[in-house]
Amino acid sequence: MNALQLDTVLLSKDRTCLEILDQTLLPGTIKVLHVSKIEDIWEAIKLLRVRGAPAIGVCAGYGIALTASNIDTDNPKTFEEKFMEQKNYLASSRPTAVNLFWALDRMERTMRANLDKPVAQIKEILFQEAQDIRDEDVAISRSIGEIGFGLLHHGDGILTHCNAGTLATAKYGTATAPMYVAQEKGWTDFRVYCDETRPLLQGARLTAFELHNAGIDTTLICDNMASLMMKSGKINIVFVGCDRVTRNGDTANKIGTSGVAILAKNYGIPFYVCAPSSTIDMSLETGDQIPIEERDPDEVTEMWYKERMAPAGVKVCNPAFDVTDHSFITGIITEKGLALPPFDKAFERFGIGK
Ligand code: MRU
Repeated sequence: MNALQLDTVLLSKDRTCLEILDQTLLPGTIKVLHVSKIEDIWEAIKLLRVRGAPAIGVCAGYGIALTASNIDTDNPKTFEEKFMEQKNYLASSRPTAVNLFWALDRMERTMRANLDKPVAQIKEILFQEAQDIRDEDVAISRSIGEIGFGLLHHGDGILTHCNAGTLATAKYGTATAPMYVAQEKGWTDFRVYCDETRPLLQGARLTAFELHNAGIDTTLICDNMASLMMKSGKINIVFVGCDRVTRNGDTANKIGTSGVAILAKNYGIPFYVCAPSSTIDMSLETGDQIPIEERDPDEVTEMWYKERMAPAGVKVCNPAFDVTDHSFITGIITEKGLALPPFDKAFERFGIGK
């Protein structure tokens, strides 16, 4: 099974539900959920059945189009009120990935721009907007892949953290896109190292799954092995994804990313963040302003183990993301080009945030 053929989230052909690949069951089970209730869409995002910043944005776009299509009114004012209730509810599912809010805001703008039309027509327009978000995501990832590919050399060892792969987007991924482009161009002499990414194992369960299945030379390592791999010369470049980038280039991504960046700088290895422009939040100046999601302690103490692996009652801290300071980032690859420091100036040149 080539993971590039797996769809993370789609709208069903009859537009009655979302078809969500349940990523909590991967790699063992490939199961598509048919979800129509807003509570179930919220839960799918919260529990990481669909996850990864761009895929969360696509899911939110389809989700609000679907739930708004079920609003039973012909009155645009009532439609607007109910739409906003649904939007605010979906926005409460996860706090860090800005793509969730970006997609919902874009859907709201579309709704408002068309409030002079009959409600049935607004509903159609919202379905189209959600589809555009998905289609654009494929093109954006592809473009990030082409730019990232230009940074690779034959024989490279590439390290990645978490899953910023095709499973985190509509297709290609962001951090994995340069690898898929290299493969498409016939390169066979590069290797990828995946951090397993405690505690939810997105590296082991998802990145290793999708790259290995695509036939890319893939080696899984525990998070605490990255330093040794770097020191021994096995890693020449790092690509990671991100959940939110602030104006100065600080970057929130899966917990552990900042440690990888610090190690990379220590060993003189280029560290690139792959960021669709929808992930760049120009309203925030620095990473200190990014809300960091704190998750259930059971993910650390019990999940994936046959029995609990920590004493009952012990305190547990489980932040899902950390912020990599911009000073550790070599470059930020957006679909509009490679941003080099100072990042705020580069983003402005690319027209991001206008
Ligand atoms: O908690 P997750 O699995 O949603 O976290 C995902 C990540 O941190 C990804 O690296 C990020 O969303 C970028 S996905 C292209």
